[in-house]
Amino acid sequence: MKFFLDTADIKEIREANSWGVLDGVTSNPSLIAKTGRKFREVAAEICATVKGDVSLETVALDADDIVKEAHELVKFGSNAVVKIPIMKEGLKALKRLADEGIRCNVTTCFSAPQALLAAKAGAAYISPFVGRLDDIGHDGMEVARQIRTIYDNYGFKTQLLVASIRHPLHVIEAAMIGADVATMPFKIFEQLVKHPLTDSGIEKFLKDWKSQNLSIW
Ligand code: G3P
Repeated sequence: MKFFLDTADIKEIREANSWGVLDGVTSNPSLIAKTGRKFREVAAEICATVKGDVSLETVALDADDIVKEAHELVKFGSNAVVKIPIMKEGLKALKRLADEGIRCNVTTCFSAPQALLAAKAGAAYISPFVGRLDDIGHDGMEVARQIRTIYDNYGFKTQLLVASIRHPLHVIEAAMIGADVATMPFKIFEQLVKHPLTDSGIEKFLKDWKSQNLSIW
């Protein structure tokens, strides 16, 4: 499973990238707004920093304008992926872009039928928002599981990108259902590394080592 960071914060992206396990980045209009910086500056910087795919989201609501925005977004780099919210106009735009060979990530997906339509129209990625479904008392991961089954049944190549991840358990569940990608905030990325027994284990090793004045050299 690939690990993407769900952020537009360049410091977080640089830090996670330095760990050697970052496969890509997803952004959205809210995350860009949170940086307080200009969109073009942020998008260019992220695409240049990360080797893997970087999702940049369209904000237009009709197909012609979504396609125009997509043509602009792919100029940020060969790793730029156009993120399009699922809606009728989004599907129309997606089909046209997919026919041109432009890779799209269909976002704000909350149901398996939406994911099926996105795959049929040629999406490269589908992003079910599991955390937001959990927030309203639904089982978000169940939707991701349904999408996995449907895509496998029909051999769709659209990658299942589990989004709106709220805690490490979501990451484990995403891996268990065979998601292609999990995108998560930096805080979750850090939580995945940590374990209290790891911290105390390292502390004990170092204490014992120092107690005998040992040295590798
Ligand atoms: O990038 C889209 C998605 O991951 C949003 O997550 O935390 O705003 O529900 P969240």
